[in-house]
Amino acid sequence: MLPGMDKFLITGGKPLQGTVRIAGAKNATLPVMAATLLSPGVSEIHDVPDLRDVRKMKDILTILGAKIESGPSWCRVDASHITSSQVPERLMREMRSSVFIMGALLGRQGAVKLSYPGGCAIGPRPIDLHLKGLASLGARISERHGYIIAEAKKLQGSDIHLDFPSVGATENIMMAAVLADGVTVIRNAAKEPEVVDLQNFLNKMGARIRGAGTDTIKIEGVSTLGSASHNVIPDRIEAGTFMVAAAMTGGDVYLENVIAEHNEPVTAKLREAGAFVEPVGDKVHVWAKGRLTAVDVKTLPYPGYPTDMQPQTMAMLSGAAGTSVIIENIFANRFKHVDELRRMGAQISIEGRAAVIRGVERLSGAAVEASDLRAGVALVLAGLVAEGQTVVDHIYHIDRGYEGLEHKLAALGAQVQRLQK
Ligand code: EPZ
Repeated sequence: MLPGMDKFLITGGKPLQGTVRIAGAKNATLPVMAATLLSPGVSEIHDVPDLRDVRKMKDILTILGAKIESGPSWCRVDASHITSSQVPERLMREMRSSVFIMGALLGRQGAVKLSYPGGCAIGPRPIDLHLKGLASLGARISERHGYIIAEAKKLQGSDIHLDFPSVGATENIMMAAVLADGVTVIRNAAKEPEVVDLQNFLNKMGARIRGAGTDTIKIEGVSTLGSASHNVIPDRIEAGTFMVAAAMTGGDVYLENVIAEHNEPVTAKLREAGAFVEPVGDKVHVWAKGRLTAVDVKTLPYPGYPTDMQPQTMAMLSGAAGTSVIIENIFANRFKHVDELRRMGAQISIEGRAAVIRGVERLSGAAVEASDLRAGVALVLAGLVAEGQTVVDHIYHIDRGYEGLEHKLAALGAQVQRLQK
């Protein structure tokens, strides 16, 4: 079976009902796994989601010399003998998150060589803010033949102001700074919960970091780090995806393993659209009756509305009563799902970073293609409400970020199955 050829077959019209457990956050797991390279000890990570991107990160750590044991939702990383500073191009191209390796390898080995990262097709994915930050810490950076080489005998603490609160740049600089000489301050830092989770993991290893979750993070360099055991936070984007799915199908769903505060932006928007969202202990109850109403959305850095929820929200608004406007402020080209939604009858026009969505009574099932992780899942959500059958192709994109999506949806009453070539 070629996993890249799988498709989802969905028959729309079933409201989602029941309880779904949210997995650990992909975007917390990946930097935390990279951070294990900073310590010669053995680290244990729990609530690890079973995703293609996580398996890729394990491959990269193994190639660098780490020894990894894994279980159903945990992994143990022994990074006592790191034998290489070069990430193979094949692996770099497949996953942008490999760029997190830079800060950790630089901090641990004083050198790192990698090719420009690949990743989703959501517009240019520069890493200039990462490189500027590492250079501020004293790294000598050269770019030759498509490779980036960064070297530093010993990194020196520095005061760094990010032009944009980049999540990856914030995390990379944090990882490089924990073993630097002196104090590093990151200003205009990203405030995402995944940055806080990385701080918590690094501090368990013996780092001295304060301020993650605010726009100013202070890191006091230490000489070495030890072992740690860590449970990654729940995936707020998977949670948001199921919240939107419950609302747009007129369903009634309980989500388990969520941190309600991390879902605030989506909760507020769903209530504005006429859905009901109630935290119940460590669960969140989401339900809706009848058709949602149009709302306006603009994506912003956390705690603004997450860009990773933009495609799913557009699928929901495609069937809402009225006209919605979505402004995508984070990525230059994150509207690849629009053409596919149009094939399902959505009435959407694009003006630069703005999408104007005129809600239709009902979408119609069609053959569509996933172009990236969140665009793909947006098409699945559209299929859940569309009249008739929808086939979503290229679902390997979806497997990068959603563990067993078809099983979780089917358990909630959706008619969805994976077609394997
Ligand atoms: C992280 O990507 C997430 N990935 C993305 O999730 C998420 O969409 C993004 O943050 C924003 O929240 C992981 O955490 C693995 P950024 P990252 O650096 O770090 C520009 C998903 O679906 N920029 O905050 O790459 C960049 O081009 C993925 O799970 C620069 O210009 O995001 C973009 O327009 C998709 N120069 C904006 O900043 C830089 O050096 C936000 O990028 C870095 C970024």
